[in-house]
Amino acid sequence: MAARTTIYNKILQKSCNFGTRSMSSWWTHVEPAPKDPILGVTEAFLADTNPEKVNVGVGAYRDDNGKPVVLECVRESERRIAGNQNMEYLPMGGSVKMVDETLKLAYGENSDFIKEKRIAAVQALSGTGACRLFADFQKRFRPESQIYIPVPTWSNHHNIWRDALVPQRTFHYYHPETKGLDFASLMDDIKNAPNGSFFLLHACAHNPTGVDPTEEQWKEISYQMKSKGHFPFFDMAYQGFASGDPERDAKSIRIFLEDGHLIGCAQSYAKNMGLYGQRVGCLSVLCDDEKQAVAVKSQLQQIARPMYSNPPVHGALIVSTILSSPDLKELWLKEVKVMADRIIGMRTALKENLEKLGSPLSWEHITEQIGMFCYSGMTPEQVDRLRSEYHIYMTRNGRISMAGVTTGNVGYLANAINEVTKSA
Ligand SMILES: Cc1ncc(COP(=O)(O)O)c(C=O)c1O
Repeated sequence: MAARTTIYNKILQKSCNFGTRSMSSWWTHVEPAPKDPILGVTEAFLADTNPEKVNVGVGAYRDDNGKPVVLECVRESERRIAGNQNMEYLPMGGSVKMVDETLKLAYGENSDFIKEKRIAAVQALSGTGACRLFADFQKRFRPESQIYIPVPTWSNHHNIWRDALVPQRTFHYYHPETKGLDFASLMDDIKNAPNGSFFLLHACAHNPTGVDPTEEQWKEISYQMKSKGHFPFFDMAYQGFASGDPERDAKSIRIFLEDGHLIGCAQSYAKNMGLYGQRVGCLSVLCDDEKQAVAVKSQLQQIARPMYSNPPVHGALIVSTILSSPDLKELWLKEVKVMADRIIGMRTALKENLEKLGSPLSWEHITEQIGMFCYSGMTPEQVDRLRSEYHIYMTRNGRISMAGVTTGNVGYLANAINEVTKSA
């Protein structure tokens, strides 16, 4: 045994000793990667031992006791599938049943595009995976193109299109003074972009600002994008989370479809079914006809194959069971509404608390914004003070995850925000 170990060590030494390189020299140039701005907040929160600490950094839903939630429709779906599923691979494009149900949510229950089989769609590794698959597809089949991304956006959008080697441009979105939509500049940017540009749009509950265009504004955006021949790619990570009604939250997409756009769409069940860690989502691309959809789907699968071969089965089965069982679907719709309503209620409570404390600032935007996040307008220095003086954790852009606000902590949070902002 000892002799074998010595021989092995000699071989190892030899194979790692090319020229002047010693065994430890392969990765000496590798520096630690910068911390992810969002996940770094959670790490700091966990390390804090103060009992009053509050985490409004991470975008994951919590109940009014601050606890993670597993929806009852998910639990019941798990009970129904327990023990009667095999562990075979899914096809490269994932669960056909899950994808079919998912398309109905985005394109409409009775969508002609679905009937005409014009949508190329594959199961994806949640919303992130769907965006990445599309970015790679865009690079492969439109190698000359760029992507226009709103300012600000979910920070990972930049990473995704960067790693897919698609050049990025930005377009105006948020107006820091009004804390609402910078509609005029947004429209100018759409007009000034070269014809046939790719635009990334948040279908609803824009992250991080919580600012969505109105229905009228969506119509104008759609019209302008159509006349410029732009390609709209919708990232829909929060369907149902904005208004409590998935149909209503798909309105932006439906407007574009009515106007005859050929769209791309990333869907995720992380938030609206609370399936964060199951990584279940869908990428779809609306095509000219069925033949094109077959070709596009086959190419999406080709891109997936060397990355992860085929997607995981369990989350997809949970989703397809819920959406294809009328009783579970009804339960899901109720539960999404409960989550959205709790967040809407916390927005009102936070605003009212700040007003009661006599804050000299306007906090109207807290209730005007929608979805999981409130873009508070606080500066990075104010956010730092919240952390060091009050043990309140959020990203330095002032984004408050309303999902982390509860009846128990909203007063404490409002008081701290008032203290750090009142002399601004
Ligand atoms: C705008 C947006 N897109 C996509 C995602 C992706 O989430 P997931 O990959 O967990 O579905 C998120 C999550 O925070 C998001 O906010």
